[in-house]
Amino acid sequence: MKILTILGARPQFIKAGSVSRQISKHQDIEEIIVHTGQHYDANMSDIFFDEMKIPKPNYFLGIGGKSHGAMTGQMIEKIEEVAVQEKPDWIMVYGDTNSTLAGAIVASKLHVKLAHIEAGLRSFNMQMPEEVNRILTDRVSSILFCPTDTAVKNLQNEGFDNFDIEIIQSGDVMQDGAIFYKSLASKPNIDIEDNYILCTIHRAENTDNEDRIRDIFKALNKISYDKKIILPLHPRTKKIIDSLKLDTTNLTIIEPVGYLEMVWLIDNCSLVMTDSGGLQKEAYFFKKQSITLRDETEWVELVENGFNTLVGANSDKIIESYQNHSKFKTQNSQLNLYGDGEASKKIIEALLNYE
Ligand code: UD1
Ligand code: UDP
Repeated sequence: MKILTILGARPQFIKAGSVSRQISKHQDIEEIIVHTGQHYDANMSDIFFDEMKIPKPNYFLGIGGKSHGAMTGQMIEKIEEVAVQEKPDWIMVYGDTNSTLAGAIVASKLHVKLAHIEAGLRSFNMQMPEEVNRILTDRVSSILFCPTDTAVKNLQNEGFDNFDIEIIQSGDVMQDGAIFYKSLASKPNIDIEDNYILCTIHRAENTDNEDRIRDIFKALNKISYDKKIILPLHPRTKKIIDSLKLDTTNLTIIEPVGYLEMVWLIDNCSLVMTDSGGLQKEAYFFKKQSITLRDETEWVELVENGFNTLVGANSDKIIESYQNHSKFKTQNSQLNLYGDGEASKKIIEALLNYE
């Protein structure tokens, strides 16, 4: 069996780490990796391949830093060329980025079976590019690997039981990774006190809205006088901070870090504040409370169970939530929200048994 894996952005490299490790156990599966180039800085891309021992991409398309249309269109053209040449049995895509959508379109046009990992998630906010990417990708897939029960229900609510698409609740591949890489975690080379908040901000709905981004940094700066905030800064956010001259004087801003350092930072922090999708779950995996600076989340089970609080981007609400966070819950190991750490194995077995 030949799988053409499409990767492009940081969270996809992290998810692919676990699945590629599983694939390498099967001599009868050949994985061809296409890196679209959507993320291209060394600490947004290469570091993950090196540290997580993901096989080097067979193809690097070099399509990053462009508008959504230009990026997605150029990816479609180049991925199609690769797929025509490689003749894979499957195209495999992860998550909800423009690289995901480009891979999905190619599979559907060439009638290659498409496997979507992290399927069925919905924010119900069609302004988000990720929501559009997810919905379109799910609809043209042959097999959908859902990380949660909610994701399966979302698909059923959209009538997916009526389509010729297999739906599997596999659990979450990020849980596999968190378990595996915890023992390899490494402390970043910065001055770290015991009690710090780990923060990441990069979502377009925040960075591209001046009121929201100003309010977020106003709140973070204020909170940082009470507790140290470590912020590995996404290049997208760095550009906005620079152009709006936002006050970040008291924040500990560092370059984006690799996954092994990130796992250390999560495991040792006292609170997570983020608009990242992946980090909301990782906070839960590492028994940390999380405040999410978005209006909605795809990981609703964390909010429903009290592990995560959605505060949006209003600075008063962010500060109030920070002041109340000691009342939030942390992980209850009785709950099995994201599977048993065997999602990657289940995914590969399902592909091998697919008829
Ligand atoms: C993308 C995904 C988002 C995901 C995020 C993970 C889409 C629509 N969005 O958002 O869902 O949460 O990746 O991090 O696919 N840049 C660099 N160097 C890099 C990468 C990006 O400088 O290595 C800068 C460039 O100015 C680029 C901007 O960041 O234009 C945005 O990058 P892009 O990949 O378009 O979107 P993300 O915000 O990273
Ligand atoms: N991450 C990382 N280094 C960083 C910031 C984030 O390794 O400097 C990891 C984080 O732990 C999570 C993933 O990147 O596993 C999430 O990616 P991101 O927040 O960019 O995207 P999202 O999950 O929101 O799509």
